[in-house]
Amino acid sequence: MNAVGQPISRVDGRLKVTGGARYTADIPLAAAAHAAIVYSTIARGRIVSIDTAAAESAPGVLVVLTHKNMPRMNPVPWSHLRPQGQTYLPLQDDQIHYAGQPIALVVAATLDQATHAGTLVQVAYERQSPVVFDQRTAKQDAVAPPQRMWPLSSLIGNTDKALADSAVKIERTYTMPDRHHNAMEPHATLAVWDNDGTLTLYDSTQMVVGTRKLASLVLGVPEEKINVVCEFLGGGFGGKSWSWPHTLLAALAAKVVNRPVRVQLTRAQMYSMVGHQAATVQTIALGAYNDGKLTGLRHDSVNPTSLFDDYVEYAALASRHLWRASGGISTSHRVVRVNRNSPVVLRAPMEAQGHFALESAMDELAYATGVDPVELRLRNDTDTDPYSGRPFSTRALRECLTKGAARFGWDRRTPEPRSMRDGRYLVGQGVAAAIFTHWRWPAKARVTLNGDGSALVEAAAHDIGTGTYTVMAQVAADALGLAPDRVAVRLGDTRLPESHPAIGSSTAANATAAVLLAARAAREKAVELALAGRDAPFAGTEPGDVMVADGRLTLAKANLNITYAELLARNGLSGLAGDGGYDPVEEVNGPKAIFSFSAVFAEVRVDPDLGLVRLNRFVGAYDAGRILNPKTARSQAIGGIIWGVGQVLLEQSETDPASGQFINRNYSGYLVPTNADIPELDVLFVGGFDEEASPLGAKGLGELTAVSVAPAITNAVYHATGTRIRDLPVTLEKLL
Ligand code: MOS
Repeated sequence: MNAVGQPISRVDGRLKVTGGARYTADIPLAAAAHAAIVYSTIARGRIVSIDTAAAESAPGVLVVLTHKNMPRMNPVPWSHLRPQGQTYLPLQDDQIHYAGQPIALVVAATLDQATHAGTLVQVAYERQSPVVFDQRTAKQDAVAPPQRMWPLSSLIGNTDKALADSAVKIERTYTMPDRHHNAMEPHATLAVWDNDGTLTLYDSTQMVVGTRKLASLVLGVPEEKINVVCEFLGGGFGGKSWSWPHTLLAALAAKVVNRPVRVQLTRAQMYSMVGHQAATVQTIALGAYNDGKLTGLRHDSVNPTSLFDDYVEYAALASRHLWRASGGISTSHRVVRVNRNSPVVLRAPMEAQGHFALESAMDELAYATGVDPVELRLRNDTDTDPYSGRPFSTRALRECLTKGAARFGWDRRTPEPRSMRDGRYLVGQGVAAAIFTHWRWPAKARVTLNGDGSALVEAAAHDIGTGTYTVMAQVAADALGLAPDRVAVRLGDTRLPESHPAIGSSTAANATAAVLLAARAAREKAVELALAGRDAPFAGTEPGDVMVADGRLTLAKANLNITYAELLARNGLSGLAGDGGYDPVEEVNGPKAIFSFSAVFAEVRVDPDLGLVRLNRFVGAYDAGRILNPKTARSQAIGGIIWGVGQVLLEQSETDPASGQFINRNYSGYLVPTNADIPELDVLFVGGFDEEASPLGAKGLGELTAVSVAPAITNAVYHATGTRIRDLPVTLEKLL
């Protein structure tokens, strides 16, 4: 009977495959004008002159906006983290801080007219050499920024002494390139001002509420006069978890031309108008006894950021929490400020980079000590969070390791590098474990029982593509005793109860918990009516005696029942709404440390002549607490693993050191995995209900599954070839 836990197909699946799901750029609005962004071709300097005369007289053009005539934005300084967005505001001065920075906005009747007129804008620059990121000098160039979301550095114990005294010591540097989100759906905004001064932003965003806050701050419009709407996302990947300049440009342009304005980024503009994942240079030192038990762990990370926002990629975060090290654990993060736009979170940020370094180093330690890599991890497991000293709420990492190893057939692996073959191919098998931050966000929701006995869930949360519409319907259905197809879900609109952004794989545990509470509140109101409303059928009994199932309330001991529809009709009500507010204990104040865990196993086949790596098979074992829908959960895991394959084998954004530009600004130059790159992926869920994590028992899942794919594969590549790859991605030449 319970819908939660069932592998229900996505309720929005039909809409998506038939083209019925409306994405931002698809929203029809005949009155809308179109805007094209003109961007800087230099990365550092200033605009000496900008000539817009030809563009202004081109067909269809309504206005050309530059720093000279753009309305001023509110110069209130704010941190890029609250509300989340790049703080350098577009078209406000003549300074150039990064290549691809917006320098003009052309608004015209059609997109083609705007795009054409954009090519007619003439710019003269005073050019300076850009400061670019250089992995080789990053450690010398780095500075410690002001503290951000978490402490930038940490020290538990005495790591220096532990490392100096250790029987076995490993110290290695691991590097990763910049990457771009490359969501299929480019960012887009449609800005509409009503006559009463209300601004509606249809925006491709992971945070309608945050976008409203930021627009209010920068545009000086009260939040009550701004609506932000995003019902579907064609991929967010973190890139849509901040607000970017194009959204602000669209809002102001619509004001200037006094009609709705639509901006959609081109594929190339997705490489500079919105953020990217910063490269990292990470150094790990491990000290251990001869049996592989860690004594000391140091993890230091450096990443590039923009000149105006200190974006810290917390790559060493995981090393604070994953393994026990008896003598000490220390971490640090620093940044290098360069001429580029602000980096942002991307697909399992922090952990996906950090685990590549940490779990590669653990594999190197396994070979240095001669301890099997799975056994090494079991020996360093801990029930207590080394950083906070608190017990973990739930931590099924041992089950992830042992059940994953059994499913994979790890016992058939021969330990020596280059010892396994398939014909002329070298075969290698690798393992890596992972820990993932559990995010806690307050959230509200409303659940309404309708007059026909169906229900409506409403929240300003998002379905980023993971199945939130479906899971929320399941949760509300169970709480109300309805079939899930009797529950409709509305999300992605600031006019709905305030919820949190779709960030950090947090929606199932937090926004959905608010839905549970709202549905329970609606049920309680219905029970109250049955006990004490008009012609109350259950008068004189206790609320605890009432059951809900099949769309009706039942009093089993008296053999009485009444449908929701009948109950509402009898009381003259067209609907009955319950409100839910979920307010989790803040992370630092919780009695337990809450994280998700995994162990993942990869088998690769390497062509010894060509250096080509193919993934043969992959097993992922996950502890994400209670799984609310095994079908959507498995789909998330498959997607996450594929992200990881992209990270380890294909993805890299190249910067031209002379111009400071990202140069491979298209799918043709930026490679992501295709179906042919991906074999059968085997997914196991080994976690259970975690009452500290959420009333639903769920912990974060989606991004966890992208973490540690990279080290599992590079560890397998080492096992296959004897070559240790410490610089991603693994390209042919690194193996030849
Ligand atoms: Mo995700 S990168 O936390 O939006």
